[in-house]
Amino acid sequence: MTTTLTTEALTLAYGDRTIVSDLSLSLPAGRITTIVGANACGKSTLLRGMARLLTPERGRVLLDGQDIHTMATKEVARHLGLLPQSPIAPEGITVAELVAQGRHPHRRTFARWTAAEDEIVAEALETTGVLDLADRVVDELSGGQRQRVWIALSLAQQTEVLLLDEPTTFLDVCHQIEVLDLLTDLNRSRGTTIAMVLHDLNLAARYADHLVAVRDGAVHAQGSAEEVLTEETVKIVFGLDARVVEDPISGRPLVLPLGRHHVSA
Ligand SMILES: Nc1ncnc2c1ncn2[C@@H]1O[C@H](COP(=O)(O)OP(=O)(O)O)[C@@H](O)[C@H]1O
Ligand SMILES: [Mg+2]
Repeated sequence: MTTTLTTEALTLAYGDRTIVSDLSLSLPAGRITTIVGANACGKSTLLRGMARLLTPERGRVLLDGQDIHTMATKEVARHLGLLPQSPIAPEGITVAELVAQGRHPHRRTFARWTAAEDEIVAEALETTGVLDLADRVVDELSGGQRQRVWIALSLAQQTEVLLLDEPTTFLDVCHQIEVLDLLTDLNRSRGTTIAMVLHDLNLAARYADHLVAVRDGAVHAQGSAEEVLTEETVKIVFGLDARVVEDPISGRPLVLPLGRHHVSA
């Protein structure tokens, strides 16, 4: 079960301000794509466009070859999930209730809630380590707990494509690795096609089958982490002088930023 998500010359704008221009990108089916780029270069806008939350000025987004703007909202949501950068939970909703909402696209109106649905929700809570928070109100959780609840919601949705906008925000380094490992498990066990924006270049390199560097609303470079994360690309995309060495753990590129006070070994 692998699904492809492709953009064709996608142009996205807010009013008359074009943010993403003429961007063509294909997420490799059943693989993990990580997306990096400087602040405000259009990463979140791109993800929103790919999830049908924005109407393109020009171009198309294709889910298994079908233009997502010709599909019903619920049908898109059955195949494609998006965890936004700053998701907002309905006031007063509990963890279990929020995660159960992930099942909504799969259910017919007025259909009875089934034991199978309960199991999917419980499994999502368990996998993300928030089962003991099930009855807590989402607003009252810490940033890290809340982030894991949102990931549980994405898991419960069981979509073939999952887009995540900085899913490791608010998490300490241990939980960052846990979440990224969890998403890798999901990718390996279910073949979920995953694309995620990550701030940490080294984690983006480690977890990527495919890495995309975005600059000014366009793809500057894409390919393997080794192909994309070169000193030259880091300089152009982030304006950062850095040394790139091999990560002794993963063998992937490890970006070591230079700075005015730290220029050489
Ligand atoms: N809802 C919006 N209305 C108008 N401009 C927006 C909106 N959201 C984002 N922008 C602008 O679009 C540009 C790209 O933003 P964004 O896609 O969030 O960048 P990134 O995720 O790469 O940091 C920024 O200049 C931002 O101010
Ligand atoms: Mg963003």
